Amino acid sequence: MARLRVGVLISGRGSNLQALIDACAEPSFPAEIVLVVSNEAAAQGLSRAHAAGIPTRVVPHRDYPDRARFDAALDAVLREAAVELVCLAGFMRLLGDAFVNAWRDRLINIHPALLPAFKGLHTHERALAAGVRLHGCTVHFVRPAMDEGPIIVQGAVPVLPDDTPETLAARVLAVEHRAYPLALRLIAEGRVRVERERALVDAAAPGSTLLNPDG
Ligand code: GAR
Repeated sequence: MARLRVGVLISGRGSNLQALIDACAEPSFPAEIVLVVSNEAAAQGLSRAHAAGIPTRVVPHRDYPDRARFDAALDAVLREAAVELVCLAGFMRLLGDAFVNAWRDRLINIHPALLPAFKGLHTHERALAAGVRLHGCTVHFVRPAMDEGPIIVQGAVPVLPDDTPETLAARVLAVEHRAYPLALRLIAEGRVRVERERALVDAAAPGSTLLNPDG
């Protein structure tokens, strides 16, 4: 069966991109990354794509007078590469409604918190300040409102008494690297559908909940 053609949007380190690259390297994996796009020319993730032989494009947001034109440029490079699903992986620009609606249910994001808790930035600091006992990550379909949309996979980790934002971030990142490939696999296998703004995962699929008790 043809593999799902994936475009990954990044802004920086690209460790989630790497997790997706590693998953796609498995011959039986049902998706392939056909393009990596960064809004930052210096993003470390671009080197990861080069190392894996994946085509890259840099679309610097500063080159565009407004968000609509930046989004249109992103849209154009994705369509040129015949991308079928877009994965946001540490992509730190907000996308406008027109782009999000054009890619509805074909655009997913990973967020470093158990949504709908801790939308936005500095999630680990805020989780510690709130005293939550569980924290984690969410892979979800993107909707125009920031960090909203049907949840596909969540991964949870414990918050430990002596955690700092850095130690907690590292524990969450480890579960991110499992959650994103799992979500991609479920979608590429056609096991996820959206009904009444909930993502329903085929009952025969491996679970879409990850618990990482040891980090
Ligand atoms: C990840 O923790 C991801 O969840 C987060 O940025 C980091 C990117 O790391 N995304 C967001 O905060 C989106 N608002 P990476 O570049 O190593 O994948």
